[in-house]
Order: sequence, then structure tokens, then C-alpha cells
Amino acid sequence: MRQLLLLLPLQIIVSTLGGSLPSTKMSTFDAPIVDILWLGADRRKVLLNTQKGTLYESLDDGRDWEQKSVHSLKVARLIMSAANASTVVAVGFRLEVFASVDAGTTWKEVVHPPGIRLSFMFHPTRANWALLSVWTEDCRLSLPGSPCTHKLLATEDLGAKPLKPISAHVVQFSWGRGDYADTIFYTHIKDKSKRQSILSKWMEGVDFVASTDFGESKTTLVPGGNKFVISEKFILVAQAKDVSAQTVNLKVSTDGSWFRKVGKRLAYVQ
Ligand SMILES: *[C@@H]1O[C@H](CO)[C@@H](O)[C@H](O)[C@H]1NC(C)=O
Repeated sequence: MRQLLLLLPLQIIVSTLGGSLPSTKMSTFDAPIVDILWLGADRRKVLLNTQKGTLYESLDDGRDWEQKSVHSLKVARLIMSAANASTVVAVGFRLEVFASVDAGTTWKEVVHPPGIRLSFMFHPTRANWALLSVWTEDCRLSLPGSPCTHKLLATEDLGAKPLKPISAHVVQFSWGRGDYADTIFYTHIKDKSKRQSILSKWMEGVDFVASTDFGESKTTLVPGGNKFVISEKFILVAQAKDVSAQTVNLKVSTDGSWFRKVGKRLAYVQ
């Protein structure tokens, strides 16, 4: 059993209740901890990053710690694949992305378009598949006409080959679940000639779409679909109905392709 107590922000006390007496050891880090991951097939390798971007590694379930360098990266986030506990991604302060398939022993850069904000989402069951999105650098400028856009890209080899562009002007995106886990679902603004702004109310001109071939083609599933929720059993989409009154229809699908309006029968869906 591992037991981890985070006491003071800079300190971590780890007790291992292995034998008859618990043994305790204290470690000090340079700043509060941001992410902490137990990696590898046996989950004994622990990786953490602090608010200063320093990476620490423990090979013995958190007893002894060493500072670690991934190409001198200052690490903002650590993300582990749900499909394989040896696959991990480190995102740097300047949005550099490095991926490791050996629990953080070796790292390779995932080259992506520059941006001011970045999201990374592993596929739920395929460790080397991921979605990555960036808000382009133009979004920082308030100049009208700067082509600010939220770009979505995908990889099936953790960035070994160039990322595949899926769409620009993306509002929300996700892998599917279950039978349609390999489908990329997203909402996007159809008119890509204007700067993209953050969706703050229900809008016309936003569609809910799916791509089953890594962006080669897409199918519009719910025209006017602004926001969505994907669960193991169904997909719910909020479709703009009357944007002046700010009302929506809820659409539901249990097969990832056919959507019907949610009405009185909602009780049967769960
Ligand atoms: C996870 O990935 C490693 C390295 O790529 C591989 O050796 C291992 O078999 C994978 N584990 C699972 C559970 O798929």
C-alpha cells in the first residue's frame, strides 16, 4: 500500500507500510507540486513537476527523488495515457510537447504549430493516438483581420510523423468512447474567414461533426450543434434553436451517428 501525504507545499512525506514498521522519508522540492504520476507497468516510477517547472523522478515508489531534465524543458503539465501507464507527455511552459513511451526514460518532441494555448488529449485505449489543439499566435493580437483560429490536429504515432490537421475554428473536441472510440467528434464554426472568438453564448453557424478517417472527411451529425458531452453510453449535443432567445434543443445518440431530439423519453435513455 502506498500512502502519500502532502503536508507543507514544499514537502512530501511518504510512508511505506510494507513491513511491520512504517518507514517515513521526507523530500523537499523547489516549489509546490503540480502533477504527480505513477508510471510503468508496476507503477513504481513516480514523476512530478513543480510550479517552477522542475521535474523530479523517483524509481522506488516515492522514497528517493532526483531532479530530472527533459531537454531542459520547464514542465507545465504531465499527462499520462489511460491506455498505457508507460506513455506520458510533458508540456513545457512555452507549449513544447515531449512524449515518452518508456515511463519517462527517453523523450521525443511532438512538433506542432505554434500557439498561445494548447490542449492535449490521449485516445482512451490507443496509447499512441492523441488529439492536440492550439489557439494560433494571432489570437494574442487584437487586430481585426488577424486570422486567429483554434486548430485541431491528430496523431496516431505520438508525433513521429507530422500531425494531421483536422480542422480550424474548432470549438470543442473529443475522442469517442466504446464502439466509436476511434472517431474524432468536434464542433466548429463553419465560416472560417473571420477571427475566431470564444463561444460565450449559443451561436448559429456552429456544427457538431465527426471524422472517422483522421480528418480526411467529416460528417455533420448535428447542424447547429454547439456543445456536446460524450459518455460510454451516449452522446448529448446542445443544438442552437433560437439564438435571440438563447434556447437549445438537446439531441441524443446511442450509436454515435444517429441523433434524435431528447423529449419526454429522456428517462429511458440512461
Ligand atoms: C505499454 O507500452 C510499452 C512500451 O511501448 C509496451 O512495452 C507495453 O507492452 C505496453 N503495455 C500495455 C499494457 O499495452
